[in-house]
Amino acid sequence: MSFPVHRPRRRRRTEPLRGLVRETRLTSSGLVYPMFAVPGTGVRREITSMPGIYQQSVDKLVEECREVAELGIPAVLLFGLPEHKDEVASEASSPDGAVQRAIQAIRKAKLKLIVITDVCLCEYTSHGHCGMIHDGEVLNDPSLTALADAALSHARAGADIVAPSDMMDGRVGAIRKRLDENGFQDLAILSYAAKYSSAFYGPFREAAQSTPQFGDRRSYQMDPANAREAFIEVGEDLAEGADIIMVKPALAYLDVIRRVRERFDVPVAAYNVSGEYAMVKAAATNGWIEEKRAVLEVITGIQRAGASIILTYHAKDIARWLKNGE
Ligand code: PBG
Repeated sequence: MSFPVHRPRRRRRTEPLRGLVRETRLTSSGLVYPMFAVPGTGVRREITSMPGIYQQSVDKLVEECREVAELGIPAVLLFGLPEHKDEVASEASSPDGAVQRAIQAIRKAKLKLIVITDVCLCEYTSHGHCGMIHDGEVLNDPSLTALADAALSHARAGADIVAPSDMMDGRVGAIRKRLDENGFQDLAILSYAAKYSSAFYGPFREAAQSTPQFGDRRSYQMDPANAREAFIEVGEDLAEGADIIMVKPALAYLDVIRRVRERFDVPVAAYNVSGEYAMVKAAATNGWIEEKRAVLEVITGIQRAGASIILTYHAKDIARWLKNGE
């Protein structure tokens, strides 16, 4: 059938009609809001390259969590900065670390929030790499113990989900084993399964002060040119016990999100990363794009590609817009 019998524009005449036939419907129920916990009290420092996003001490972070919960966002993702960095990321598993205390404080405040924690070493190492170093190489197997230690410390503090983002081989299995041995068999793992070595993490590295002091992350994060390799990474993480898998970043990898979604029957998350946020913010601040439309279009695209969970720094704005029926 074709024109003039067929006129696709009939379905686009009014907003109620467009709403009726809409294929992708945004809700707040799949949103995750990333946050940065730092030591101290009364600290709330805006990240220059991420307007609207702050490094916060636990007291301030909990205040914002209250707002997040009230907006109907179901989950937060916590990153932490230590008091001191060292070669072996000692503070990553400290029970008094900023992340561990933030989890406890959110629990104590009885907020209706799923607490997800990022499990990685790069914020805690003096060299800024996601694992242990020897002779300028990032070692795989010796890093697994430290990652499992960190995950267990988050579990003990009361996390609901741990999310390893380091890209060491075997980390999901090592974390699963350690959690199970300690009675946390019901705690889920969201693995950053297909995490690419990306320029779009730039602003995050300011936020987490985690820029590698030498070299880059290409020996452990994936090559942006590879999509089939994502199936290997996702398959292995699932075999090791991952409950939810993630593709990261989102926008330059929508094909990977789609293909992973078609191939695996587990929930797929996508991370709309710091650089993607910064680009929209910068253009909107200059009046070059309309922020709300651009953000909703980006999020719709990520969901349409196949992600049912979206981690995004825009989460509060999106929830507000959806709440007001905009
Ligand atoms: C830690 C980690 C990074 C991000 C999440 N976890 C940075 C990196 O791998 O360099 C990036 C998040 C973002 O850019 O928003 N390994």
